[in-house]
Amino acid sequence: MGLKSEFKNIKGTRDILPEEAIRWKKVEDVIRKKMESYNFQEVRFPAFEATDLFRKSTGESTDIVKKEMFTFEDMGGRSLTLKPEGTPSVVRMYLQHGLFNRGALQKFYYIERMFRQERPQKGRYREFRQFGAEVIGSVSAETDAELVKSALDVFKELNIKGIELNINSIGCPRCRKDFVKELKSFLKGKLNGLCEDCNRRYAENPMRILDCKIDRTKLKDAPVPSDFLCDECREHFEDFKKRLDFLKIKFNIDSRLVRGLDYYTKTVFEFVNTSLGSQNELGGGGRYDELIKFMGGEDTPASGYAVGIDRMMLLLPGKDEKISVDVYLVTFDVESDLAGFEILNELRERGFSCDKDPMRRSVKAQFREADRQNAKWVIIIGENEIKRGVVQLKNMNKGKQKEIPMEIDKIVKELKC
Ligand code: HAM
Repeated sequence: MGLKSEFKNIKGTRDILPEEAIRWKKVEDVIRKKMESYNFQEVRFPAFEATDLFRKSTGESTDIVKKEMFTFEDMGGRSLTLKPEGTPSVVRMYLQHGLFNRGALQKFYYIERMFRQERPQKGRYREFRQFGAEVIGSVSAETDAELVKSALDVFKELNIKGIELNINSIGCPRCRKDFVKELKSFLKGKLNGLCEDCNRRYAENPMRILDCKIDRTKLKDAPVPSDFLCDECREHFEDFKKRLDFLKIKFNIDSRLVRGLDYYTKTVFEFVNTSLGSQNELGGGGRYDELIKFMGGEDTPASGYAVGIDRMMLLLPGKDEKISVDVYLVTFDVESDLAGFEILNELRERGFSCDKDPMRRSVKAQFREADRQNAKWVIIIGENEIKRGVVQLKNMNKGKQKEIPMEIDKIVKELKC
């Protein structure tokens, strides 16, 4: 139970305490290992960017840009925004640093904090973490399937079960024209009965009406993008499905899946887990073949996804682990404390986690602390041990104590047993 203080963390943000941080570290290690096994290279980017970057790339008509960004002015009057998603920053980085000169294909991954001013609830936060992957330069559906597989590999390695993959193709700007025309004519006369968001989307990006959670049933007969795909988009989608089959990845085709960001073309996909409740989308992504050119680069295809790590943590089996230290030092006087300190530092250099009481409290207090820290071993040194050149090594799990020469190699050998 904490103390009452005038300060609390801000709604929608979370503190991660040591026991939970151990789990986070393990998860991040798995993500890094898996991503690197696919030859994705890690990138890290700033917490904030020019607001226009997101306006232009995430898209003016999206909920993110319309109502969820943390935007502020710096002292020079520039409008800045805490990054709500990673794709715009990766594209900016790619263009700004000329990364296209490094080869036709660039594969990136990131583990980053994102910020969105949404109504906080379980699985939805204002500051959250994503891992994401972006492949720039490949037009192939193989890339889309590989991206999907890399995320599924992470879930599998973490023993996260019950993930469903939904896929769709929303076509390219060419075939989307016909679809939007048809959708608009379907919606004509129905707009009064639809929600405010749908009415706004009708004017700005009608396709996103299909995404509406409120009016889903009223729109069940609406035309869907996959009915209007041009030959190239249809073949691409067929190829994507074949590649998933080849990889033995099960999927559902959701013809109403359009995703909430403006830059997508062709393939879109999402990972869902129904046990997460209303925030059941664990991750999502798709192809964004037009974005690089739109942002000032060459005509370059691209594809990617991001997974919400906070949501993933809710599905992670097992409990928080206890924090523990390998070795805790207990000493009786100044001289033994100094000798012990030397041993401790050598053990730290050899990779053991070690600690001691810096306040030189009573032996009883030091043992209490060793227990509290879940020490695996305690090294005990007193006047007698110094005289005889030995240490007492106590295995805290077995409760057994052994005398060993005060020599680092011999101590290490014993700790490794
Ligand atoms: P997104 O669908 O906006 O896509 O976000 C991806 C994932 O981030 C979601 O599926 C969800 O798990 C997590 N997420 C989103 N908002 C929150 C929140 N408020 N609290 C907790 N978790 C959240 C993107 O961000 C795209 N950049 C993905 C992408 C990469 N597309 C192509 N490349």
